[in-house]
Amino acid sequence: MQKRFLMCRPTHFAVTYKINPWMDPAAPYDTTLAISQWESLKATYENLGHQIELIDPIPGLPDMVFAANGGTVIDGRMFTAQFRHAERADEGPAYRDWAERAGYEVHDAKHVNEGEGDILLAGEYVLAGTGFRTAHASHAEVQEIFGRPVITLQLVDPRFYHLDTALAVLSTGADGKPANIAYLPEAFSPGSQNVLRQLFPNAVIANIEDAEVLGLNAVSDGENVVLPVQATHLAEELRKAGYEPIGVDVSELRLAGGGPKCCTLELRS
Ligand code: ARG
Repeated sequence: MQKRFLMCRPTHFAVTYKINPWMDPAAPYDTTLAISQWESLKATYENLGHQIELIDPIPGLPDMVFAANGGTVIDGRMFTAQFRHAERADEGPAYRDWAERAGYEVHDAKHVNEGEGDILLAGEYVLAGTGFRTAHASHAEVQEIFGRPVITLQLVDPRFYHLDTALAVLSTGADGKPANIAYLPEAFSPGSQNVLRQLFPNAVIANIEDAEVLGLNAVSDGENVVLPVQATHLAEELRKAGYEPIGVDVSELRLAGGGPKCCTLELRS
């Protein structure tokens, strides 16, 4: 199924502050390599037939490449992001302006939420993470704005601080398959694990090695799943479940705690 994605070139990518356990401002990083890895991710999507929109990168916002955090776009409406940390605060208005200019109906968030980092559409449900970044109160806003049932999921491991680092949507229900996901159970509280088991009995289960290379930070079109090439166990499980895994190397972006999905905001008209 063809999709539309918003991406932001990592022109100003850097690791200069630490807002998640992956980031080490003292460690070296390579912006040129980050750009070339991002270019191949973009080319991978284009080869799969997806349409890419671009937002201009802004100097001084090194994490702006992580477009998934820029908002949530469903049914032609954008629910804006409100970042937890001051370092990323200015990205919110930048993505909001883009959405307004692109003609989306913009709904301003009242509570902290980091867009598709924590808010993922999976079939008839919106799965919403909380615990590290997105405030629980924003889940009610999401339900009201999109009129879809929101399932709150409690994240418990600081390495998997956004829902999209612990769970990937594989099929949306709109792609001819029942909605399905892949996830790392231990990244969630016991109650949330039960909820996921009930809602997605056929989910693909990732292991800790997959999650430690941000393997769950994957983008699926219902058939092809673009994921970090290092997540070999997850790729095999996806293949067994009937998906086509497509490995990409975005190791440089992982130094900031991001993977393919973080770089990709889905635009749903
Ligand atoms: N350095 C960024 C942060 O900590 C990485 C964001 C990754 N994005 C995501 N959708 N998980 O906010």
